[in-house]
Amino acid sequence: MSARYDLSGRLAIVTGGAGGLGRGIAGAFIDAGARVELWDANASALADSAAALGPHATTRTVDITDAAAVEQAADAAFTTHGRVDILVNNAGVLGEVKPIWETSPENFQRVLQVNLFGSYLVTRAVVGRMRDQAPRPSKLTPHPLRGHVVNIASIQGKEGMARAAAYSASKAGLIALTKSVAKETAQDGIIVTAITPAAAETAMAKEISAERRADILGRIPMGRFVEVEEVARMVLWLSSDECSFSTGGIFDLSGGRATY
Ligand SMILES: NC(=O)c1ccc[n+]([C@@H]2O[C@H](COP(=O)([O-])OP(=O)(O)OC[C@H]3O[C@@H](n4cnc5c(N)ncnc54)[C@H](O)[C@@H]3O)[C@@H](O)[C@H]2O)c1
Repeated sequence: MSARYDLSGRLAIVTGGAGGLGRGIAGAFIDAGARVELWDANASALADSAAALGPHATTRTVDITDAAAVEQAADAAFTTHGRVDILVNNAGVLGEVKPIWETSPENFQRVLQVNLFGSYLVTRAVVGRMRDQAPRPSKLTPHPLRGHVVNIASIQGKEGMARAAAYSASKAGLIALTKSVAKETAQDGIIVTAITPAAAETAMAKEISAERRADILGRIPMGRFVEVEEVARMVLWLSSDECSFSTGGIFDLSGGRATY
């Protein structure tokens, strides 16, 4: 991973930090000089992630759908580190892969609960506190920034996807949340963006059938899945002071599937 971005002295929170993309993003931040708090509901996978990432990664076991737990975790993070410079809302679940008439209401609710409501809770807790911290002087921009928020949406949130109504709807909601919060924080020096990756080879991709996998691959003009490092590199740019005027932007990462 290139170390062209200087995140030294910065503290990043990565939700879903025990998962494939979360660990990759955290690794890129650490390579650029940041310290990272990994938040995840899966305590044992979190411990594995932290061990792989080394001493600049710490962990917090948090279920992001639990409002009180999220408030407590945000409070502890700001108290421990003094400030939080970067938030990546990455925790997410795929849920049932079925046509809507075969899905359960419990599944729909759960997917929305984690991917949208959970990201809302974390954003509410962290951005509310980020607004109160001092702007950080920057060598790159005369307009000091208080922080960056990057939301991990999905190509399915832009295009919709058969057999994934809940997942697609949750990610479309996350895209709208991104644009809305960006407008609220535009004058606070907080840059809020989202990315819309195509499929990556993580635990989530292993939940689908071979047939579904071939269908998804066939929709990507580049004919391959996105590499975790490619996702991490885009998040790195969006989390750095290089990204100082693109708030509310939704950044494509789909190998040509969406050219908008
Ligand atoms: N893998 C892909 O193909 C792909 C494509 C586009 C977008 N995404 C998105 O990227 C993000 C990361 O996914 P991944 O591929 O690394 O999957 P993953 O399953 O490897 O990681 C997801 C992580 O989120 C955590 N999580 C789930 N519910 C949680 C909760 N309530 N509280 C806290 N943590 C919780 C899980 O424990 C897991 O560690 C997700 O938001 C996903 O929707 C993935």
